[in-house]
Amino acid sequence: MDIRVLRPSDIPLIQHANIENLPENYFLKYYLYHALSWPQLSYVAVDVSRPRKTPYDYPKIVGYVLAKMEEEPADGVQHGHITSLSVMRTHRRLGIAEKLMRQSQLAMVETFGAHYVSLHVRVSNNAAIHLYRDTLGFKTEKTEAKYYADGEDAYCMKLELSFIRESLHEGPRAIVAADKDDAEKAKGDDEDGAAAEAGEDVDEGEAVGDVGRDPDAKKSAPKKKKEEVKIKVGRGLGVGELVEKNEAKHS
Ligand SMILES: CC(C)(COP(=O)(O)OP(=O)(O)OC[C@H]1O[C@@H](n2cnc3c(N)ncnc32)[C@H](O)[C@@H]1OP(=O)(O)O)[C@@H](O)C(=O)NCCC(=O)NCCS
Repeated sequence: MDIRVLRPSDIPLIQHANIENLPENYFLKYYLYHALSWPQLSYVAVDVSRPRKTPYDYPKIVGYVLAKMEEEPADGVQHGHITSLSVMRTHRRLGIAEKLMRQSQLAMVETFGAHYVSLHVRVSNNAAIHLYRDTLGFKTEKTEAKYYADGEDAYCMKLELSFIRESLHEGPRAIVAADKDDAEKAKGDDEDGAAAEAGEDVDEGEAVGDVGRDPDAKKSAPKKKKEEVKIKVGRGLGVGELVEKNEAKHS
C-alpha cells in the first residue's frame, strides 16, 4: 500500500470513492480547489499490488483524505480542517484511515503551522468516532444540531497539534509561518526563507553573469518602487459560493 499526496489526476477516482462511501458528495471542482489550494494536505492510499494491465491503467485508490486550511478561522487561530475521509470496504481495519489522517495532520503543521485540526462527524458514525477519538485523540467540542442535509446532528471535533509542533523542534523551518519566535530563530538558519516571508526579492540561485544586461542600468536607474497589484485569492476566484453552499451542509 502506498500512501502519497493527492494528484489532480486522482480526483475522478477519489470522487468515485467518496460517492461509494459517504452521502456527502462534492462537485469535481471542489476537489480540485483543495488539490490546488492546499496540495500538501490531501492524501490517497493506492493499492500498488494490483497489476497494471496497460500503461494507461488508473491506479487503484482505496482511500483518501481531503483536507484544507480554514480560510477565515472564527477564532483567528490558524488551523486545518478535514473535509472528507473514506476507505473502501474491501480495505478497512488495516490502519489506512489512521495513516492518511496522520500524514495530513503532519503536513498541516509542517507546511502551514496549524495549531489544531477540526472536523465534523455524524453522531451515528461509530467507526469514524472511534478512529478520531480513541485512535487519534480528538476531543468533542460541541454538537451541531441538524448539521447534515438529512437533519442528522454532527459532533464538532478538534485535535490540538502541539505534539507535532514539539516533535518538529529540530526543523524550525517547518513552523516558521506559525510562530513568530521561531521565525526569528530560523532567520539565521535560512536567510532566503525569511526574506521570502517578508516579501523581499530573493536570489534564487547562483549568479548567471552579465550577459544581456545593460551594465549601467543598475547603477544609474533610480530604484522603482514595486507596483502593488491586487489579485483575487480563495473565495474571490469564483468557486467560493459553490464551496460555501456545499460545505455548509456537508463536511
Ligand atoms: C471510518 C473509516 C474511514 C475508517 O477507516 P479504516 O481504514 O477502516 O480505519 P483504520 O483501520 O485506520 O482504523 C483505525 C481505528 O479506527 C477505529 N475503527 C475503524 N473502524 C471501526 C469500526 N468499524 N468499528 C469500531 N472502530 C473502528 C478503531 O479504533 C481502529 O483501530 P483498531 O483497528 O486498532 O481497533 C471507514 O470505516 C470508512 O471509510 N467509513 C465510511 C466513510 C466514513 O464514515 N468516513 C468518515 C466521515 S467523518
